Amino acid sequence: MTSEQILTIILIIVVPSAVLWIAFMVRNRPAPRRRTKALPHALRPPPGDDVLEGRRLDRIRIGGILALFGIAVFVVAYWLPEAQRQQAFAKQQMQQSIERGAIIFKPPPVLPPNAGPAQFKKLEDEISLGMGCANCHGANAVGGQATYTDPATGKTVVWNAPPLDNVFTRWDDDIVRFTIEQGRPGTPMPTWGADYGGPMTDQMIDDVMNWLHSLPQNNRPPAGIPDRCRNPKGGDMLSCGKAIFAARCAVCHGPEGQGKDMSGKNFNQRWFQGMALWHGKVRHLTPAQQYDTILNGRRYAFMPDFGAAPSQGIPVPPYPLTNRQIKAVETYERHGLPGAAPAGKGSSGGGTR
Ligand code: HEC
Ligand code: HEC
Repeated sequence: MTSEQILTIILIIVVPSAVLWIAFMVRNRPAPRRRTKALPHALRPPPGDDVLEGRRLDRIRIGGILALFGIAVFVVAYWLPEAQRQQAFAKQQMQQSIERGAIIFKPPPVLPPNAGPAQFKKLEDEISLGMGCANCHGANAVGGQATYTDPATGKTVVWNAPPLDNVFTRWDDDIVRFTIEQGRPGTPMPTWGADYGGPMTDQMIDDVMNWLHSLPQNNRPPAGIPDRCRNPKGGDMLSCGKAIFAARCAVCHGPEGQGKDMSGKNFNQRWFQGMALWHGKVRHLTPAQQYDTILNGRRYAFMPDFGAAPSQGIPVPPYPLTNRQIKAVETYERHGLPGAAPAGKGSSGGGTR
């Protein structure tokens, strides 16, 4: 407790109660004892109604009614701004959560070996909360690199870690939480959730997600799709498919559908998560399978859903595609990606259904 708080308590509680107590004692100080032969109080006959039902009783009654009114007005006056009060608290708690999230994202500072308690106290939050997401995902979550050295072979692998300041344009809360809690096996993304053996409580995961939500990128929609491509047909299929692919798919599959198994070197060390889709590789799928993959995604294989009306149980994506847009991008993947067969050749295109 700070000395200011102690002073406030003294002013609000101790001083007024002392004053009241003294006033009470002064008013009720016992009358000087006199020796009388009269009957003791308890044995005297009680006063009659004319004494009891006098002005004093009226005063008490009026006082009671006034107190009742006072309480009635107070309850309503207290209740009316209750909703605002709760909103203000929710806002304040969200703000605190975002602040904690920012701390969680950063690596914890290193305390100098001979640091004193005051120094520790100052860095306590950073030290106990810092999880170091920024080590891989970059400061401010703009994306970065994870290096992993295999303890057995000594070989070092560099892995591109995705930017997270735009993660909610790819994924809903559900998947982001799933990824943070359980990590992503086969990649350097570790498990963080306490339920899965990681160091982060549910509250910490909420905090870091709230912080990610608060980043300016996440409030900005991804690249636009030209208006003429709302319901593309015929000749527009390939060009619209290309525009849609660039706006929605390239972030994971690469601008040319090269996917994550392509060496990062050619592409400026960018992170790609999706499968390679080029050289007609997508044609091992039937058009129906390809369409369903784009419509419904493969949630826990980390391909998002794009259908505006996805199957039951799958949340609508933040930036859904119309049915014709899905057909267009399907056509582009089969026939337009570099290395894919031109339209009309090979297996039937996506636009035929
Ligand atoms: C050791 C490096 C490393 C650290 C530390 C790390 N990540 Fe990751 N994270 C990765 C990599 C690599 C991926 C991409 C995996 C892939 O290729 O699918 C990833 C993926 C993710 C994704 C999914 C992104 C997407 O678009 O699919 C989220 C969300 C995420 N990390 C959150 C976090 C949070 C929150 C923390 C800190 C608590 C964290 N990461 C710490 C390496 C790391
Ligand atoms: C957030 C990253 C991400 C985005 C954005 C994304 N994909 Fe994918 N996609 C994936 C991943 C990961 C897979 C592999 C899923 C698996 O392993 O089953 C995949 C698989 C696919 C497949 C199946 C490939 C195969 O060989 O089985 C198709 C088709 C596909 N994506 C099309 C698209 C289209 C079209 C878009 C844009 C409208 C898109 N993807 C956007 C991550 C993404």
